[in-house]
Amino acid sequence: MEKKKSTAEKVGIAGCGITRPEVPPIYATSVFSFETLEDVDAVYEGDKPGYVYSRTSNPTVRLLEEELALLERAERVLAFSSGMAAITTTICSLVKPGDHVLASKVLYGETHKLFGELLPSWGVKVDFVELLETDDIESYFRENTRILYVETISNPLMEVSDIPRLCEEAKKYNCRVVVDNTFATPAFCRPIEEGAHIVLESLTKYLNGHSDVTGGMAGGSAADIETVGKFRTLMGGCMSPFDAWLTLRGLKTFPLRMEKHAENALHLARKLERHPAVQKVFYPGLERNASYGIARKLLRNGFGGMLSFEVAGGEEGVSRLVRNLENVELLPSLAAVKTTLSHPAKTSHRSVPADTRISSGITGGLVRLSAGIETPETVWQDLEKALDELVEA
Ligand SMILES: Cc1ncc(COP(=O)(O)O)c(C=O)c1O
Repeated sequence: MEKKKSTAEKVGIAGCGITRPEVPPIYATSVFSFETLEDVDAVYEGDKPGYVYSRTSNPTVRLLEEELALLERAERVLAFSSGMAAITTTICSLVKPGDHVLASKVLYGETHKLFGELLPSWGVKVDFVELLETDDIESYFRENTRILYVETISNPLMEVSDIPRLCEEAKKYNCRVVVDNTFATPAFCRPIEEGAHIVLESLTKYLNGHSDVTGGMAGGSAADIETVGKFRTLMGGCMSPFDAWLTLRGLKTFPLRMEKHAENALHLARKLERHPAVQKVFYPGLERNASYGIARKLLRNGFGGMLSFEVAGGEEGVSRLVRNLENVELLPSLAAVKTTLSHPAKTSHRSVPADTRISSGITGGLVRLSAGIETPETVWQDLEKALDELVEA
């Protein structure tokens, strides 16, 4: 019986003699040579396997894309040089002037800017709307609504989107549902299986998971992703082979890391909830969280590694907390192996106009915590001591 092809062989990565390297090589080449002009035609037209130029495709990048497609249950995935490259390229490939877009009110700051500034300047009408369980979603749609855009778990307020319900409504308007799954990751939610058309991830975060890569991906049907691919070639945001290789390495421990990130986040959320210097905790795994019901239905095996909390004393309180901490670092990203804090108003959501930011609940006292994979008790000792000092002062 013939052996099943490995993903490496599927994308054209060869073995060494009759053996295969355990770890596939990095194809650090920008271009590929041809024997004949006929072969050029055959590869360009897809009649023979091969590569041309790494802005369009590269074997190491393709290998990562195949692995991600399996994880996301997507027919096809494309890898990008950042999460924002994936988001901007995908959205630009799906809209044209005159179209209408619905976007969730609370989104990562740069994504908010894309919808709030760039698209309107190109003649695309964007409405930012509440997409929570209780809202009358149907009334938001128009005949020309082409995209409904949400984050599975919103940055930074951790609201969970009811993706199946949104997809049901969107279907009536022939509107594509595009989901940024960066906080939930495919470990806890697979938007494609829930009915979404396109899933986006910042690979900079959990999927690579070691704070040493900037990357992104878009996944969906082969037809949708082919369209996105044409724009990726034009806009030039393909991931580099070295970053793809590092992300492939990160993926090997992805399920294990996610289990621990989520376990630690729940542990810390419960502790924070009881601390007198903390006014409110935002974590979908807490019974009293507004998204708990949807989170229980949508998220499998855990509620993710991200939480936020409101510190007494507003921005001044956060400033003192950061100074009081000995080990937990202030880091304007997330998904590191160690626990880190960030201040959304000053970092990830800095580009959102202040009135919009504050009216959506992103206040000066809001801290975002990315739970690491350490022993959570050592993290809590540091946090508790720093928070205690706020109460004592
Ligand atoms: C939810 C979310 N989506 C997308 C991005 C953008 O990803 P990148 O920084 O890789 O461009 C971020 C960045 O923090 C994010 O938090």
